[in-house]
Amino acid sequence: MNNIILTGFMGCGKTTVGIRLSYKIQKTFIDTDKKIEKEQNTKVKRIFENYGETYFRDLETQLLQKMVTKKDSQIISIGGGMPVREENRILLKQLGTIIFLKASPETIYERVKHDKKRPLLQGENPMAKISALCKQRNTIYESIADFTVVTDGKRFDEVIKEICELLKFHRNDKNGGFDENINY
Ligand code: S3P
Repeated sequence: MNNIILTGFMGCGKTTVGIRLSYKIQKTFIDTDKKIEKEQNTKVKRIFENYGETYFRDLETQLLQKMVTKKDSQIISIGGGMPVREENRILLKQLGTIIFLKASPETIYERVKHDKKRPLLQGENPMAKISALCKQRNTIYESIADFTVVTDGKRFDEVIKEICELLKFHRNDKNGGFDENINY
């Protein structure tokens, strides 16, 4: 499978980078949250409110299980909590090349401070929550990543350029080689 998976904390830029990269290298872009929302016909926020986080996490695992059965070549932005389950990490590694977009808690806070859509950041002290979760999760993201790209202080075009450079020289031996005909 020649998928490119973008992982990292909420607000690290997965969606924007994913969409722009998809134009540049002519691959379809998908976002796992959007896919779940479409399948469930409701918003992630509502799923958390009505059925709880575990239910949402089960939907993420089910989606991944379906995705690994397909021979796709897409850019996939995954929900920030998806790699926390070990089962999901195993599935993600089978799904393609994983790029961790790493951002500091301060950068993340600036990007999400007005956001009302992300249920995990709606509490009293979002900055403390972001710091605690990043501390917990950055090791997890790093453990599955083929590459880590730090996004702090960088424009999106700089991040994309960096990703393309990395992909150009990357050969995914496990999955039979990267697309030779893509102009990274
Ligand atoms: C979550 C991240 C969100 C979404 C849900 C939970 C998390 O996705 O899946 O709100 O646990 O970090 P984004 O990372 O795309 O915001």
